[in-house]
Amino acid sequence: MAYLTLADISKNFNKNPAVEHFNLDVEKGKLVSFLGPSGCGKTTTLRMIAGFETPDSGVIELDGEDISNIPPNKRNIGMVFQSYALFPNMTVLDNICFGLRMHKMLKNQIVPKAREVLDLVRLSDTANRYPNQLSGGQQQRIALARALAIEPRVLLLDEPLSALDAEVRVVLRGEIRRIQTNLKITTIYVTHDQEEALSISDRVVVMNKAHIEQVGTPQEIYREPKTKFVATFIGTANEFHGSVCGKDSVKSAEFLIKTNNASLFADGDEVFALVRPEKIDVYSYKPENIDGNVLEGLVDTITFRGAETRLGIDIGEKVITADVPGKDVFSYGQRVWVAFDSNACQVLK
Ligand SMILES: Nc1ncnc2c1ncn2[C@@H]1O[C@H](COP(=O)(O)OP(=O)(O)OP(=O)(O)O)[C@@H](O)[C@H]1O
Ligand SMILES: [Mg+2]
Repeated sequence: MAYLTLADISKNFNKNPAVEHFNLDVEKGKLVSFLGPSGCGKTTTLRMIAGFETPDSGVIELDGEDISNIPPNKRNIGMVFQSYALFPNMTVLDNICFGLRMHKMLKNQIVPKAREVLDLVRLSDTANRYPNQLSGGQQQRIALARALAIEPRVLLLDEPLSALDAEVRVVLRGEIRRIQTNLKITTIYVTHDQEEALSISDRVVVMNKAHIEQVGTPQEIYREPKTKFVATFIGTANEFHGSVCGKDSVKSAEFLIKTNNASLFADGDEVFALVRPEKIDVYSYKPENIDGNVLEGLVDTITFRGAETRLGIDIGEKVITADVPGKDVFSYGQRVWVAFDSNACQVLK
């Protein structure tokens, strides 16, 4: 059963929709990400859950109770924002204790609880420091500790890592996931970083222009995007615009694509055929006996990416992106053949 439910939530600002017909069930103890481009309504949705904004219509239920008319400070929801928002004139310990005092925790329990959450974020040794004596990453850990101290029913994180550098971001998102899983705390995590969303979430809500495009596990979102927006916003996809031709092909401007995934469409329907770079094989010779799609081209770009190399292959009308394992296998201008299976391409409206 759902622990947190958003039922048909809409919100306008000056008649412009910020969130439209938002429906979501979140199970207890799960981490759900809101992922989408700037301005798509992520923060507005979060603020409605927290109670800082009131929906124009729809209902928000937490643990079976309609919380629409409960003020923010009575919802017992923890929040962490992009900016650290620690009190600069208080020590780390006092920053955490302050929230607990506001929460009317019994006096003799406050310091032990603050120390417990400091321990959880592995910063016990910073208790007596001031925020300006901590790194950005450490300050965000303290903000997280402060949000966790009140034992919130739901934890809301709004781009908590976006002000940090790439390396710290990766470490800290792992930490957030570790703590969230250990405490089994129901969490909504807002980000516009697809890799972040895919790597830490139980489920991802992909948003675009005030509405939900798709909700699913990271695997579903990546492997079975339901819309062209999802397919291209998440990961990289080679995109062929064309029309369905028979039961098993799509005729694009570039070539006739064989596919097993066009059967839901009618002959002549306008569609996009999408192929992920890792689904494409690259050969230095013309491969024989391939059941699927084979195209000839020239290597246009080579980008070493660590475990794989990303090739841009010019097939005349288009440059195809393909990921191949290893390094130094292909050279600029080399004649190659790209091949992909008729299962490899997804067909979307
Ligand atoms: N208080 C407000 N008054 C008027 N318009 C607002 C207000 N808050 C948000 N908006 C508008 O609502 C839309 C959604 O904003 P929101 O902050 O939810 O986006 P977001 O997905 O969080 O974007 P970002 O990734 O940039 O943080 C935007 O068009 C924004 O300009
Ligand atoms: Mg935002």
